[in-house]
Amino acid sequence: MRTQVAIVGGGPAGLLLSHLLHLHGIDSVVLERRSQEYVQHRVRAGVLEQGTADLLREAGVGDRMQREGDVHDGVHLQFDEERLRIPFRELTGRGITVYGQQEVVRDLAERRRRDGGQVLFEVADVGVHDVTTDRPFVRFTHEGVERELHADFVAGCDGFHGICRDTIPAGTRTVYERVYPFGWLGVLASVAPSCGELIYANHANGFALHSMRSAEVSRFYLQCAPDESLDEWPDERIWAELQTRLGTPGWTLHEGPIIDKTVTAMRSFVAEPLRHGRLFLAGDSAHIVPPTGAKGLNLAVSDVDRLADAVATYHRTGSTTGLDGYSAACLQRVWRVQNFSWWMTSLTHHFGGPDAAFERRLQRAQFDYLRTSTAAATTLAENYVGLPLR
Ligand code: FAD
Ligand code: DHB
Repeated sequence: MRTQVAIVGGGPAGLLLSHLLHLHGIDSVVLERRSQEYVQHRVRAGVLEQGTADLLREAGVGDRMQREGDVHDGVHLQFDEERLRIPFRELTGRGITVYGQQEVVRDLAERRRRDGGQVLFEVADVGVHDVTTDRPFVRFTHEGVERELHADFVAGCDGFHGICRDTIPAGTRTVYERVYPFGWLGVLASVAPSCGELIYANHANGFALHSMRSAEVSRFYLQCAPDESLDEWPDERIWAELQTRLGTPGWTLHEGPIIDKTVTAMRSFVAEPLRHGRLFLAGDSAHIVPPTGAKGLNLAVSDVDRLADAVATYHRTGSTTGLDGYSAACLQRVWRVQNFSWWMTSLTHHFGGPDAAFERRLQRAQFDYLRTSTAAATTLAENYVGLPLR
Protein backbone atom coordinates (compact mmCIF):
# COMPACT_ATOMS: atom_id res chain seq x y z
CA MET A 1 0.00 0.00 0.00
CA ARG A 2 1.11 3.54 -0.60
CA THR A 3 -0.12 6.87 0.76
CA GLN A 4 1.34 10.31 1.37
CA VAL A 5 1.13 10.26 5.18
CA ALA A 6 0.92 7.07 7.27
CA ILE A 7 -0.81 7.89 10.55
CA VAL A 8 -0.37 5.53 13.50
CA GLY A 9 -3.25 5.95 15.99
CA GLY A 10 -6.91 6.82 15.39
CA GLY A 11 -7.58 8.95 18.47
CA PRO A 12 -8.38 12.65 18.13
CA ALA A 13 -4.85 13.55 16.94
CA GLY A 14 -4.70 10.90 14.19
CA LEU A 15 -8.24 11.41 12.90
CA LEU A 16 -8.04 15.20 12.88
CA LEU A 17 -4.64 15.12 11.14
CA SER A 18 -6.08 12.83 8.47
CA HIS A 19 -9.04 15.16 7.96
CA LEU A 20 -6.92 18.36 7.83
CA LEU A 21 -4.56 16.73 5.31
CA HIS A 22 -7.57 15.73 3.21
CA LEU A 23 -8.69 19.38 3.14
CA HIS A 24 -5.24 20.17 1.69
CA GLY A 25 -5.67 17.42 -0.93
CA ILE A 26 -3.19 15.08 0.79
CA ASP A 27 -3.88 11.34 1.18
CA SER A 28 -3.35 9.49 4.41
CA VAL A 29 -4.14 6.13 5.97
CA VAL A 30 -4.91 5.84 9.69
CA LEU A 31 -3.88 2.63 11.49
CA GLU A 32 -5.71 2.08 14.79
CA ARG A 33 -5.06 -0.77 17.20
CA ARG A 34 -8.50 -0.81 18.82
CA SER A 35 -11.99 -1.36 17.39
CA GLN A 36 -14.07 1.58 16.18
CA GLU A 37 -16.59 0.80 18.91
CA TYR A 38 -13.91 1.02 21.62
CA VAL A 39 -12.36 4.26 20.35
CA GLN A 40 -15.71 6.00 20.11
CA HIS A 41 -16.86 5.06 23.60
CA ARG A 42 -13.71 5.81 25.57
CA VAL A 43 -14.77 8.50 28.07
CA ARG A 44 -12.03 11.11 28.44
CA ALA A 45 -11.71 14.83 27.91
CA GLY A 46 -14.59 17.27 27.94
CA VAL A 47 -13.24 20.81 27.59
CA LEU A 48 -12.38 22.39 24.23
CA GLU A 49 -10.42 25.62 24.19
CA GLN A 50 -11.82 28.47 22.08
CA GLY A 51 -9.09 27.83 19.45
CA THR A 52 -9.90 24.10 19.28
CA ALA A 53 -13.63 24.76 18.82
CA ASP A 54 -12.88 27.41 16.16
CA LEU A 55 -10.56 25.04 14.30
CA LEU A 56 -13.13 22.21 14.30
CA ARG A 57 -15.76 24.63 12.95
CA GLU A 58 -13.43 26.03 10.27
CA ALA A 59 -12.46 22.49 9.24
CA GLY A 60 -16.16 21.66 8.71
CA VAL A 61 -16.41 19.12 11.55
CA GLY A 62 -18.03 21.37 14.15
CA ASP A 63 -21.74 21.19 13.26
CA ARG A 64 -22.80 18.76 15.99
CA MET A 65 -20.47 20.42 18.50
CA GLN A 66 -22.15 23.72 17.63
CA ARG A 67 -25.60 22.19 18.28
CA GLU A 68 -24.89 19.97 21.26
CA GLY A 69 -21.80 21.46 22.90
CA ASP A 70 -22.21 23.90 25.75
CA VAL A 71 -20.31 27.20 25.62
CA HIS A 72 -19.14 28.39 29.06
CA ASP A 73 -18.09 31.92 29.94
CA GLY A 74 -16.55 31.15 33.33
CA VAL A 75 -15.34 28.50 35.74
CA HIS A 76 -15.55 28.14 39.52
CA LEU A 77 -12.70 27.53 41.91
CA GLN A 78 -13.50 26.47 45.45
CA PHE A 79 -11.37 26.41 48.58
CA ASP A 80 -13.15 24.51 51.36
CA GLU A 81 -16.65 26.02 51.20
CA GLU A 82 -15.71 29.29 49.52
CA ARG A 83 -16.52 29.42 45.82
CA LEU A 84 -15.00 31.93 43.42
CA ARG A 85 -16.02 32.47 39.79
CA ILE A 86 -13.38 33.30 37.18
CA PRO A 87 -15.38 35.14 34.47
CA PHE A 88 -13.12 34.31 31.56
CA ARG A 89 -15.34 35.79 28.83
CA GLU A 90 -15.29 39.12 30.67
CA LEU A 91 -11.52 38.90 31.25
CA THR A 92 -10.39 37.59 27.84
CA GLY A 93 -13.31 37.85 25.39
CA ARG A 94 -13.00 34.07 24.88
CA GLY A 95 -14.78 30.96 26.17
CA ILE A 96 -14.63 27.16 26.25
CA THR A 97 -16.94 24.52 24.80
CA VAL A 98 -17.89 21.51 26.89
CA TYR A 99 -18.21 18.61 24.42
CA GLY A 100 -17.01 15.06 25.08
CA GLN A 101 -13.83 13.83 23.41
CA GLN A 102 -15.62 10.71 22.21
CA GLU A 103 -18.10 12.97 20.40
CA VAL A 104 -15.22 14.78 18.66
CA VAL A 105 -13.80 11.36 17.69
CA ARG A 106 -17.20 10.19 16.39
CA ASP A 107 -17.63 13.36 14.31
CA LEU A 108 -14.13 13.01 12.82
CA ALA A 109 -14.49 9.28 12.10
CA GLU A 110 -17.88 9.85 10.45
CA ARG A 111 -16.50 12.66 8.30
CA ARG A 112 -13.47 10.54 7.28
CA ARG A 113 -15.87 7.77 6.29
CA ARG A 114 -18.02 10.15 4.22
CA ASP A 115 -14.93 11.59 2.49
CA GLY A 116 -13.72 8.09 1.60
CA GLY A 117 -10.79 8.28 4.03
CA GLN A 118 -9.03 5.06 4.96
CA VAL A 119 -9.08 4.25 8.68
CA LEU A 120 -8.10 0.66 9.45
CA PHE A 121 -9.25 -0.47 12.90
CA GLU A 122 -7.93 -3.45 14.87
CA VAL A 123 -4.48 -3.47 13.29
CA ALA A 124 -1.75 -5.33 15.21
CA ASP A 125 2.06 -5.66 15.32
CA VAL A 126 2.59 -2.10 14.11
CA GLY A 127 6.24 -1.21 13.46
CA VAL A 128 7.68 1.97 11.93
CA HIS A 129 10.71 1.52 9.65
CA ASP A 130 13.34 3.49 7.72
CA VAL A 131 12.21 6.91 8.95
CA THR A 132 15.70 8.35 8.46
CA THR A 133 15.54 7.50 4.74
CA ASP A 134 13.20 9.14 2.22
CA ARG A 135 11.22 5.86 1.97
CA PRO A 136 9.72 5.26 5.40
CA PHE A 137 7.08 2.57 5.85
CA VAL A 138 4.88 1.00 8.49
CA ARG A 139 4.50 -2.77 8.78
CA PHE A 140 1.37 -4.12 10.46
CA THR A 141 -1.09 -6.99 10.52
CA HIS A 142 -4.70 -6.45 9.50
CA GLU A 143 -7.36 -9.15 9.27
CA GLY A 144 -4.64 -11.77 9.74
CA VAL A 145 -2.50 -10.51 6.83
CA GLU A 146 0.88 -8.79 7.25
CA ARG A 147 1.02 -5.58 5.22
CA GLU A 148 3.31 -2.64 4.51
CA LEU A 149 2.19 0.96 4.15
CA HIS A 150 4.75 3.15 2.32
CA ALA A 151 4.52 6.91 2.70
CA ASP A 152 6.39 10.22 2.44
CA PHE A 153 5.95 10.81 6.18
CA VAL A 154 4.83 8.89 9.25
CA ALA A 155 2.79 10.63 11.97
CA GLY A 156 3.03 9.07 15.43
CA CYS A 157 -0.42 9.83 16.89
CA ASP A 158 -0.53 6.65 18.96
CA GLY A 159 -0.87 8.13 22.43
CA PHE A 160 1.28 7.66 25.52
CA HIS A 161 1.38 3.84 25.28
CA GLY A 162 2.06 3.76 21.54
CA ILE A 163 5.14 2.46 19.73
CA CYS A 164 6.22 5.46 17.63
CA ARG A 165 8.05 7.39 20.38
CA ASP A 166 10.33 4.40 21.03
CA THR A 167 11.32 4.33 17.35
CA ILE A 168 13.43 7.41 18.12
CA PRO A 169 16.81 6.15 19.37
CA ALA A 170 17.30 6.80 23.09
CA GLY A 171 20.49 8.76 22.34
CA THR A 172 18.63 11.38 20.29
CA ARG A 173 15.61 11.71 22.61
CA THR A 174 15.33 13.45 25.98
CA VAL A 175 12.47 12.67 28.34
CA TYR A 176 11.27 15.09 31.03
CA GLU A 177 8.86 13.64 33.53
CA ARG A 178 7.10 14.25 36.82
CA VAL A 179 4.88 11.62 38.39
CA TYR A 180 2.28 12.84 40.90
CA PRO A 181 1.48 10.97 44.11
CA PHE A 182 -2.23 10.80 43.26
CA GLY A 183 -4.69 9.97 40.50
CA TRP A 184 -8.23 10.87 39.49
CA LEU A 185 -11.28 8.71 39.98
CA GLY A 186 -13.49 9.69 37.01
CA VAL A 187 -17.23 9.22 37.42
CA LEU A 188 -20.03 9.55 34.87
CA ALA A 189 -23.55 9.86 36.33
CA SER A 190 -27.06 10.02 34.84
CA VAL A 191 -28.06 13.21 36.57
CA ALA A 192 -28.48 16.81 35.45
CA PRO A 193 -25.44 19.01 36.25
CA SER A 194 -25.88 20.78 39.59
CA CYS A 195 -24.12 23.92 38.32
CA GLY A 196 -24.04 25.49 34.86
CA GLU A 197 -20.24 25.72 34.92
CA LEU A 198 -17.29 23.59 36.06
CA ILE A 199 -16.19 23.62 39.71
CA TYR A 200 -12.57 22.83 40.68
CA ALA A 201 -12.55 22.29 44.45
CA ASN A 202 -9.68 22.07 46.93
CA HIS A 203 -11.08 20.52 50.12
CA ALA A 204 -9.25 19.19 53.19
CA ASN A 205 -10.13 15.67 51.92
CA GLY A 206 -8.56 16.37 48.51
CA PHE A 207 -9.48 17.64 45.05
CA ALA A 208 -12.89 17.28 43.39
CA LEU A 209 -14.20 18.47 40.02
CA HIS A 210 -17.77 18.93 38.87
CA SER A 211 -18.19 18.85 35.10
CA MET A 212 -20.87 17.72 32.67
CA ARG A 213 -21.57 16.09 29.33
CA SER A 214 -25.17 17.12 28.63
CA ALA A 215 -28.37 18.35 30.32
CA GLU A 216 -28.82 14.80 31.66
CA VAL A 217 -25.26 13.61 32.32
CA SER A 218 -22.75 14.90 34.89
CA ARG A 219 -19.02 14.16 35.01
CA PHE A 220 -17.04 14.19 38.26
CA TYR A 221 -13.45 13.58 39.32
CA LEU A 222 -12.08 12.86 42.82
CA GLN A 223 -8.44 12.88 43.87
CA CYS A 224 -7.50 9.34 44.91
CA ALA A 225 -4.38 7.14 45.12
CA PRO A 226 -2.67 6.64 41.72
CA ASP A 227 -3.23 2.87 41.94
CA GLU A 228 -6.60 3.07 43.72
CA SER A 229 -8.83 0.04 43.32
CA LEU A 230 -12.39 0.73 42.15
CA ASP A 231 -13.49 -1.77 44.82
CA GLU A 232 -12.68 0.95 47.37
CA TRP A 233 -15.26 3.24 45.77
CA PRO A 234 -18.83 1.96 45.98
CA ASP A 235 -21.35 4.51 44.70
CA GLU A 236 -22.37 5.62 48.22
CA ARG A 237 -18.77 6.54 49.06
CA ILE A 238 -18.39 8.48 45.79
CA TRP A 239 -21.49 10.56 46.47
CA ALA A 240 -20.54 11.15 50.11
CA GLU A 241 -17.08 12.37 49.07
CA LEU A 242 -18.46 14.57 46.27
CA GLN A 243 -21.00 16.07 48.71
CA THR A 244 -18.21 16.82 51.20
CA ARG A 245 -15.58 18.15 48.80
CA LEU A 246 -17.92 20.20 46.57
CA GLY A 247 -20.35 21.34 49.28
CA THR A 248 -21.01 25.03 49.87
CA PRO A 249 -23.92 26.67 51.75
CA GLY A 250 -27.03 27.28 49.65
CA TRP A 251 -26.02 24.84 46.89
CA THR A 252 -27.24 21.28 46.31
CA LEU A 253 -25.34 18.54 44.52
CA HIS A 254 -27.89 16.27 42.82
CA GLU A 255 -27.22 12.53 42.85
CA GLY A 256 -28.16 9.90 40.27
CA PRO A 257 -27.14 6.47 38.92
CA ILE A 258 -23.40 6.11 38.28
CA ILE A 259 -22.78 4.70 34.79
CA ASP A 260 -18.96 4.65 34.51
CA LYS A 261 -15.94 4.74 36.87
CA THR A 262 -12.23 4.77 36.01
CA VAL A 263 -8.95 5.61 37.76
CA THR A 264 -6.23 7.55 35.94
CA ALA A 265 -2.73 8.12 37.33
CA MET A 266 -1.26 11.57 36.80
CA ARG A 267 1.96 12.66 35.20
CA SER A 268 3.66 15.45 33.34
CA PHE A 269 5.77 14.10 30.47
CA VAL A 270 7.57 15.54 27.43
CA ALA A 271 9.76 13.63 24.93
CA GLU A 272 11.95 15.96 22.86
CA PRO A 273 12.27 16.41 19.93
CA LEU A 274 8.94 15.61 18.23
CA ARG A 275 10.68 14.68 14.99
CA HIS A 276 13.08 11.96 13.90
CA GLY A 277 13.78 11.98 10.17
CA ARG A 278 10.40 11.52 8.51
CA LEU A 279 8.61 10.52 11.72
CA PHE A 280 6.63 13.28 13.47
CA LEU A 281 5.07 12.76 16.91
CA ALA A 282 1.82 14.56 17.80
CA GLY A 283 -0.43 14.58 20.87
CA ASP A 284 -0.08 12.21 23.83
CA SER A 285 2.63 10.16 22.06
CA ALA A 286 4.98 13.08 22.74
CA HIS A 287 3.56 14.73 25.84
CA ILE A 288 1.18 14.20 28.75
CA VAL A 289 -0.16 16.87 31.08
CA PRO A 290 -2.00 16.28 34.34
CA PRO A 291 -5.68 16.77 33.43
CA THR A 292 -6.40 19.63 35.86
CA GLY A 293 -6.03 22.31 33.16
CA ALA A 294 -8.10 20.28 30.62
CA LYS A 295 -5.32 20.62 28.08
CA GLY A 296 -4.31 17.20 26.66
CA LEU A 297 -6.76 17.04 23.78
CA ASN A 298 -6.26 20.72 23.02
CA LEU A 299 -2.49 20.27 22.78
CA ALA A 300 -2.98 17.32 20.43
CA VAL A 301 -5.17 19.54 18.21
CA SER A 302 -2.56 22.30 18.20
CA ASP A 303 0.20 19.83 17.18
CA VAL A 304 -1.73 18.36 14.26
CA ASP A 305 -2.88 21.77 13.06
CA ARG A 306 0.77 22.72 12.74
CA LEU A 307 1.81 19.39 11.24
CA ALA A 308 -0.92 19.40 8.58
CA ASP A 309 0.09 22.91 7.59
CA ALA A 310 3.80 22.00 7.41
CA VAL A 311 3.15 18.89 5.27
CA ALA A 312 0.80 20.84 2.99
CA THR A 313 3.37 23.62 2.50
CA TYR A 314 5.99 21.00 1.67
CA HIS A 315 3.76 19.36 -0.93
CA ARG A 316 2.73 22.69 -2.43
CA THR A 317 6.09 24.46 -2.54
CA GLY A 318 8.81 21.96 -1.61
CA SER A 319 9.74 24.15 1.36
CA THR A 320 10.78 22.20 4.46
CA THR A 321 10.71 25.25 6.74
CA GLY A 322 7.46 24.23 8.49
CA LEU A 323 8.61 20.61 8.91
CA ASP A 324 12.01 21.71 10.20
CA GLY A 325 10.43 24.11 12.69
CA TYR A 326 7.62 21.74 13.76
CA SER A 327 9.20 20.32 16.90
CA ALA A 328 10.48 23.61 18.32
CA ALA A 329 7.21 25.43 17.61
CA CYS A 330 5.13 22.69 19.25
CA LEU A 331 7.45 22.47 22.25
CA GLN A 332 7.06 26.15 22.99
CA ARG A 333 3.31 25.69 23.46
CA VAL A 334 3.76 22.32 25.17
CA TRP A 335 5.94 23.83 27.91
CA ARG A 336 3.60 26.80 28.45
CA VAL A 337 0.76 24.33 28.88
CA GLN A 338 2.90 22.06 31.08
CA ASN A 339 3.49 25.01 33.34
CA PHE A 340 -0.21 25.90 33.52
CA SER A 341 -1.33 22.30 34.09
CA TRP A 342 1.24 21.78 36.84
CA TRP A 343 0.17 25.08 38.44
CA MET A 344 -3.57 24.23 38.37
CA THR A 345 -2.72 20.82 39.82
CA SER A 346 -0.56 22.32 42.58
CA LEU A 347 -3.27 24.82 43.45
CA THR A 348 -6.02 22.25 43.88
CA HIS A 349 -4.50 18.91 45.03
CA HIS A 350 -2.99 17.53 48.21
CA PHE A 351 0.53 16.23 47.77
CA GLY A 352 0.81 14.94 51.37
CA GLY A 353 4.25 14.75 52.91
CA PRO A 354 5.73 16.52 55.93
CA ASP A 355 5.02 20.07 54.69
CA ALA A 356 1.34 19.46 53.81
CA ALA A 357 0.14 22.19 56.20
CA PHE A 358 2.59 24.69 54.66
CA GLU A 359 1.44 23.73 51.16
CA ARG A 360 -2.21 24.29 52.07
CA ARG A 361 -1.40 27.80 53.37
CA LEU A 362 0.29 28.57 50.04
CA GLN A 363 -2.77 27.30 48.17
CA ARG A 364 -5.00 29.50 50.32
CA ALA A 365 -2.77 32.51 49.56
CA GLN A 366 -2.98 31.84 45.81
CA PHE A 367 -6.76 31.43 46.02
CA ASP A 368 -7.06 34.77 47.87
CA TYR A 369 -4.84 36.40 45.25
CA LEU A 370 -7.11 35.11 42.46
CA ARG A 371 -10.10 36.53 44.36
CA THR A 372 -8.61 39.97 44.85
CA SER A 373 -6.45 40.56 41.75
CA THR A 374 -7.81 40.98 38.23
CA ALA A 375 -4.29 40.35 36.91
CA ALA A 376 -4.11 36.96 38.68
CA ALA A 377 -7.61 35.97 37.53
CA THR A 378 -6.80 37.05 33.96
CA THR A 379 -3.65 34.91 33.91
CA LEU A 380 -5.72 31.87 34.85
CA ALA A 381 -8.46 32.80 32.39
CA GLU A 382 -6.26 33.33 29.32
CA ASN A 383 -4.45 30.06 29.86
CA TYR A 384 -7.67 28.15 30.57
CA VAL A 385 -9.49 29.34 27.42
CA GLY A 386 -6.23 28.73 25.54
CA LEU A 387 -3.63 30.96 23.98
CA PRO A 388 -4.03 31.47 20.21
CA LEU A 389 -3.14 28.30 18.25
CA ARG A 390 -0.55 30.00 16.03
P1 FAD B 1 -5.08 9.06 22.28
O1 FAD B 1 -6.42 9.61 22.50
O2 FAD B 1 -4.46 8.24 23.35
O3 FAD B 1 -5.15 8.23 20.94
C1 FAD B 1 -4.10 7.37 20.53
C2 FAD B 1 -4.68 6.25 19.72
O4 FAD B 1 -3.62 5.42 19.23
C3 FAD B 1 -5.60 5.36 20.52
O5 FAD B 1 -6.82 5.22 19.84
C4 FAD B 1 -4.84 4.05 20.63
O6 FAD B 1 -5.70 2.93 20.67
C5 FAD B 1 -3.99 4.08 19.38
N1 FAD B 1 -2.78 3.27 19.46
C6 FAD B 1 -1.95 3.09 20.52
N2 FAD B 1 -0.93 2.28 20.20
C7 FAD B 1 -1.12 1.94 18.91
C8 FAD B 1 -0.38 1.11 18.02
N3 FAD B 1 0.73 0.47 18.40
N4 FAD B 1 -0.85 0.96 16.77
C9 FAD B 1 -1.98 1.61 16.37
N5 FAD B 1 -2.72 2.40 17.17
C10 FAD B 1 -2.28 2.57 18.43
N6 FAD B 1 -7.72 16.71 27.56
C11 FAD B 1 -8.34 17.91 27.37
O7 FAD B 1 -7.94 18.66 26.46
N7 FAD B 1 -9.39 18.33 28.13
C12 FAD B 1 -9.86 17.57 29.13
O8 FAD B 1 -10.85 17.96 29.76
C13 FAD B 1 -9.20 16.31 29.41
N8 FAD B 1 -9.62 15.52 30.40
C14 FAD B 1 -9.07 14.27 30.54
C15 FAD B 1 -9.56 13.48 31.55
C16 FAD B 1 -9.04 12.20 31.70
C17 FAD B 1 -9.57 11.35 32.81
C18 FAD B 1 -8.01 11.72 30.83
C19 FAD B 1 -7.44 10.33 30.97
C20 FAD B 1 -7.51 12.53 29.84
C21 FAD B 1 -8.02 13.81 29.68
N9 FAD B 1 -7.55 14.66 28.70
C22 FAD B 1 -8.12 15.90 28.55
C23 FAD B 1 -6.47 14.25 27.82
C24 FAD B 1 -6.93 13.75 26.46
O9 FAD B 1 -7.89 12.72 26.61
C25 FAD B 1 -5.73 13.26 25.65
O10 FAD B 1 -4.73 14.23 25.68
C26 FAD B 1 -6.10 12.96 24.20
O11 FAD B 1 -6.82 11.75 24.12
C27 FAD B 1 -4.85 12.85 23.30
O12 FAD B 1 -5.21 12.43 22.01
P2 FAD B 1 -4.23 11.56 21.13
O13 FAD B 1 -4.97 11.30 19.87
O14 FAD B 1 -2.90 12.19 21.11
O15 FAD B 1 -4.03 10.20 21.96
C1 DHB C 1 -13.09 17.52 32.31
C2 DHB C 1 -11.83 16.97 32.37
C3 DHB C 1 -10.80 17.73 32.83
O1 DHB C 1 -9.54 17.22 32.88
C4 DHB C 1 -11.00 19.03 33.26
O2 DHB C 1 -9.95 19.75 33.72
C5 DHB C 1 -12.26 19.57 33.19
C6 DHB C 1 -13.32 18.81 32.72
C7 DHB C 1 -14.21 16.69 31.81
O3 DHB C 1 -13.97 15.52 31.50
O4 DHB C 1 -15.34 17.18 31.73
